[in-house]
Amino acid sequence: LRVAIEPRPRWRARSAARASRGARSSARDAARAPQSRATTATTMPATTHATMRATSARATRARTTATATTARARATTTRVAGRRPTRCAVSASSDAAHAEATGAIDWHAMGFGLTTTAYMFKATCELGGEWVVEGVVPYGDLSLSPSSAVLNYGQGVFEGMKAFRTSEGELLVFRPDENAKRCEEGAGRMSMPAVPRDLFRDAVLRTVSANAEYVPPVGMGSLYLRPLLIGTGAILGLGPAPSYTFLVYCSPVASYFKGGQLTPIDLTVEETYHRAAPGGSGSTKCIGNYSPVLKVQLEAKKRGFSDVMYLDAKENKYIEEVSSCNFFCVKGKTISTPSLQGTILPGITRKSICELAAARGFTVEERNVSIDEVMNADECFCTGTAVVVAPVGSVTYKGKTVKFCDGKVGPTSQAMYDELTGIQQGKLPDERGWNVKVPKFPISG
Ligand code: COI
Repeated sequence: LRVAIEPRPRWRARSAARASRGARSSARDAARAPQSRATTATTMPATTHATMRATSARATRARTTATATTARARATTTRVAGRRPTRCAVSASSDAAHAEATGAIDWHAMGFGLTTTAYMFKATCELGGEWVVEGVVPYGDLSLSPSSAVLNYGQGVFEGMKAFRTSEGELLVFRPDENAKRCEEGAGRMSMPAVPRDLFRDAVLRTVSANAEYVPPVGMGSLYLRPLLIGTGAILGLGPAPSYTFLVYCSPVASYFKGGQLTPIDLTVEETYHRAAPGGSGSTKCIGNYSPVLKVQLEAKKRGFSDVMYLDAKENKYIEEVSSCNFFCVKGKTISTPSLQGTILPGITRKSICELAAARGFTVEERNVSIDEVMNADECFCTGTAVVVAPVGSVTYKGKTVKFCDGKVGPTSQAMYDELTGIQQGKLPDERGWNVKVPKFPISG
């Protein structure tokens, strides 16, 4: 495989005529989007039903939003066709969308359900070619060959990241370069052309800027960003796809787990299934990394647990991670977390918490953490972009349940949560330069 990402310029804007065609078809897709959103509600897990009920109730209003989206798409089409619209022509339709979008979203009812937004970012690349940037386009369905590599062989990686609104009215993205790096590593593991880091960062910032009205009010959640790199080209025999698509879409979100942020979660330790094995792809955020946990997770939920903890596949004794997040345990002034040996996700929240805890005087240990140690810990918590910092109320293993901190939020979880979210929301000084301010881009490729 030769992935020719040549020296700069490694990406370019798509030609005006092609972009115009693409924007028109994306606009048609965007107009269909609300229907698919309403359908999603029936398949959402129980934890998101509250949000989705609100979403379904909004479906009719959302159709009006789609009309506005189409109107905005027209502005975009004019723009990408090369006749530069005046800045105010774009922002006038944006303002109309703002009124509709913010009116339709009940910020108080949000969980981690999907609320579609007006725009997404798109770029494409032929195998051996350079990235061609379509830029910000109306959010909408994709058209894929049934034999696209991602549908048949799961050739794809994704990221999870967040943008926040500050009380000064700025929009901040948390550590986007870390996600760019992880996405690049994932692309290598899955034999895909990497997205150049500067393109990744630009795409994320433009997606947030275009969807600025969907970033929740201060302290009420965040705009979750989902960069996706997928093999979209058609292929039958096993091999890398002939072409790739890079997308960034987003959704406003609040608490991941039922009960709200900082509600302690009850975990059960899985004794039969494993998440990943040494030499596998457990540390790659690839398409398919998460679906195998659903069977186990759904069973656990039926038994009243919030989620499942996995043990290592070799000795069945050391903690790996929870379905969607990394794991930490606290004993005195020592915080321990499973080390990165290729079987767990190298979480960016995990990395940030390790740095913050060390700066607070904790001894931070990245090593094998046994289940016996966990059952004797003072406190445990989970971390992830979606999850943030989730205190663990109890762990159940081989029929024995251990409660932590009387099932309440432990002091370390609380402190870590406060510090991390304080930095992310611009309430605390960002001493490490983790936040990247989102410029106000005109909506353009
Ligand atoms: C994230 O935390 O961003 C993830 O991608 C995990 C996912 C299961 C929601």
